[in-house]
Amino acid sequence: MIEPARILVAVGGGIAAYKVPELVRALVGQGHTVRCVLTDAATQFVSPLVLQTLTGEAVRRGLLDVSEEGEIDHIRLADQSDLVIVAPATADLMARMAHGLANDLVSAVLLATRAPILMAPAMNVNMWNHPATQRNLELLRERGVLQVGPESGELACGWEGLGRMAAPPSIVSAADRALSSGSLSGQCVLVTAGGTTEPIDPVRGITNRSSGKMGFALAAEAARRGAEVVLVAGSTSLPTPEAVRRVDVGTALEMRAAVLQELEGATVIIKAAAVADFRPREAADRKLKKETLVESDVMSLELVRNPDILEEICQIKGERIVVGFAAESHDVIPAARRKIERKGCDLLVANDVSRSDAGFSTDLNAVHLITPDGAVEDVSLRHKAEVASQILDRIEKIRGEREA
Ligand code: C5P
Repeated sequence: MIEPARILVAVGGGIAAYKVPELVRALVGQGHTVRCVLTDAATQFVSPLVLQTLTGEAVRRGLLDVSEEGEIDHIRLADQSDLVIVAPATADLMARMAHGLANDLVSAVLLATRAPILMAPAMNVNMWNHPATQRNLELLRERGVLQVGPESGELACGWEGLGRMAAPPSIVSAADRALSSGSLSGQCVLVTAGGTTEPIDPVRGITNRSSGKMGFALAAEAARRGAEVVLVAGSTSLPTPEAVRRVDVGTALEMRAAVLQELEGATVIIKAAAVADFRPREAADRKLKKETLVESDVMSLELVRNPDILEEICQIKGERIVVGFAAESHDVIPAARRKIERKGCDLLVANDVSRSDAGFSTDLNAVHLITPDGAVEDVSLRHKAEVASQILDRIEKIRGEREA
């Protein structure tokens, strides 16, 4: 049950604003006090009168309107909110949020508020994919702005692709999660992320294409839900999510040592890292010179097996919930079912790395969640932050079932 909260809905000027009355109605139906603020452009797409009638609260549009500002000024609007939902978050509104502009009521409130912000982006697919929008998105995410959608499908502009605003029930669920942050409080979540690098010599190594994005998204979401989070990070260029303790490692052996060191206090372990299965038997301590090393055109490197960290911790996990990942290029579900049995973890997240639109290095992922009984839950293509949220929902469900 979600406690009634004060929710401010900031409406941007996009066609998706026509869905805002449905969103507002659902939020009011949950017992929340809902206020709406609109950009000038938003008033072209949704009637302020409709929103005022549904919420029973005065709708505000202007920053410099003497009578509106006299009723409740923009700082009080920002302060008196437990959650701000930006729907639709247009490309322009996201850009203004990212760069701290405060040139109308909506952007001023977004800059002034200390409440969590949940944005529901909606725009044309090319505007969404534009590097400027993607960079703004990154900035906002780094700052802890929550996101739901956009979804993929037919867009109002006639194009197909990512850009459709999340459906109102999805926004309501994301708002529930944001308001109930703390669902993991008291838990200590240990996440591994990124690829390992196995040195050949001081300048060369064997690594893989893992960007670390999925593991970092999991760490950020777990922290947002109130968990104490330790992130053991392999090779990645990502910034550390807020409120997360990060331990950097290079090789699989270093990752194993860090995981074993942090294991004691952990109640949930998520092994999203792409660990190298083999390492060179010996790493040279000086750079290998090709003239002295390779007499023919062939050079051999002797590799030895790395320990399987996941398998090892599953043998000593006790009450801990352990989650493994499986990157498969074919035969995904049967291979993942065999893997969960072999490794002995409580949940396996399987992704199909043959897809070009998901998995390695991309911002999107589509996964299957597999439990030891062989049951499969599909999570369709969406942003890694949202995939992370669904994985953590599943972990919380496992914990709830155990406690029951
Ligand atoms: O067997 P495979 O490498 O496909 O298993 C992937 C899962 O096992 C991931 O969760 C990964 O972090 C973990 N793993 C590990 N140690 C290894 C290899 C994989 O912990 N040496």
